[in-house]
Amino acid sequence: MKILVSGATGFVGGAISRHLLAAGHEVRALSRSSTRAAQKYDADEIGRKALADGRLTFVEADVTKPDSLLPAVEGMDAVVQAAQFTGAPVEDPARGLTYAAVDRDGTLNLLGAIAKVYGRATAGPDPARFPSGSPRFLYMSGITVAPEAQEPWNAAKWQAEEAIRGSGLTWAIVRSCWAYGPNDTALNRILGYSDYLPFVPVFGRGEDPLSPVFVEDIGRLFTLLIAYPEKATDTTLKLGGPDTVTLNEFVSLALRAMGRRRPLLHIPKPLGKVQGAVMQYLPGRPLTPDAVDFVAQGGAVTDADRAALAELFPELRTTPLREGLGSYMNR
Ligand SMILES: NC(=O)c1ccc[n+]([C@@H]2O[C@H](COP(=O)([O-])OP(=O)(O)OC[C@H]3O[C@@H](n4cnc5c(N)ncnc54)[C@H](OP(=O)(O)O)[C@@H]3O)[C@@H](O)[C@H]2O)c1
Repeated sequence: MKILVSGATGFVGGAISRHLLAAGHEVRALSRSSTRAAQKYDADEIGRKALADGRLTFVEADVTKPDSLLPAVEGMDAVVQAAQFTGAPVEDPARGLTYAAVDRDGTLNLLGAIAKVYGRATAGPDPARFPSGSPRFLYMSGITVAPEAQEPWNAAKWQAEEAIRGSGLTWAIVRSCWAYGPNDTALNRILGYSDYLPFVPVFGRGEDPLSPVFVEDIGRLFTLLIAYPEKATDTTLKLGGPDTVTLNEFVSLALRAMGRRRPLLHIPKPLGKVQGAVMQYLPGRPLTPDAVDFVAQGGAVTDADRAALAELFPELRTTPLREGLGSYMNR
């Protein structure tokens, strides 16, 4: 299959692309810089092999620039959307770096490009608008997304999901829990404090439940979605790891996997938000009040969510937390 991956240079989109390539698919990796994308994939064995086979190509496009997406979506069997704005979760509206501009409108622009390239003119909403052979649309969403959720990340992703559901294309949406892995920026940033502090700061009480998912499992799920389109046609799935823990437990387990012990220092959220309110005006905009809410939030799957996914894809084994962390945390 020929698959466009938007966000292919990112943490999640990179894992999805590698798994698709390893399964023998052709990937067109979308990035705002093909040079950067080529460097990323050249550093990886699967990427190098796929480049040599001609199964990996690059397309330079920007999801906020609709016209740049037309050549990107052409000739594809599926489009995977896993792009998010640079610097997330710290929004910077003055530079167009927001959930609304990239996560939501970027998705709308991809759908618009597919409609221009493949769609038939109709008098109104019509599922037959897209002839067979039009690409499927697979979207990487978040576990906290819900119709009533008001936070900027949840609202933007909900609106993107709704646009996909109403697009007339066939689609699948994956609402994923916090993803961790060798190159993640979130867990690794928290753990990085232990390089030079005798404690690890955590915003909030750290007691909300999380079901962290190993990034390779996301790659495996998207590869199954591509392999078995009939199993998840127009379906919203929830993906989490097999262990549900608090943020405190997650960070402590990761520290232990690194061979370190550090107490966690809890920064009350209101204090963190005051910090964010000041730091948003510093160069590089290191923190905002909303970003404090984002990093302090929980996000877990239920047993029913796990059972629903297992029923569709019994072959998908999600990686236990200790095993996932232990596979790369021995630095
Ligand atoms: N990481 C997690 O724990 C997690 C959990 C649940 C859901 N998600 C969702 O998964 C998606 C990917 O997250 P991630 O952690 O992989 O993000 P990431 O590592 O920050 O990657 C972001 C990607 O978006 C691309 N991008 C940014 N702005 C773009 C633009 N204007 N046009 C085209 N591409 C653009 C970047 O490509 P270039 O810079 O090369 O252009 C990069 O490939 C997001 O929607 C996120 O909400 C992530």
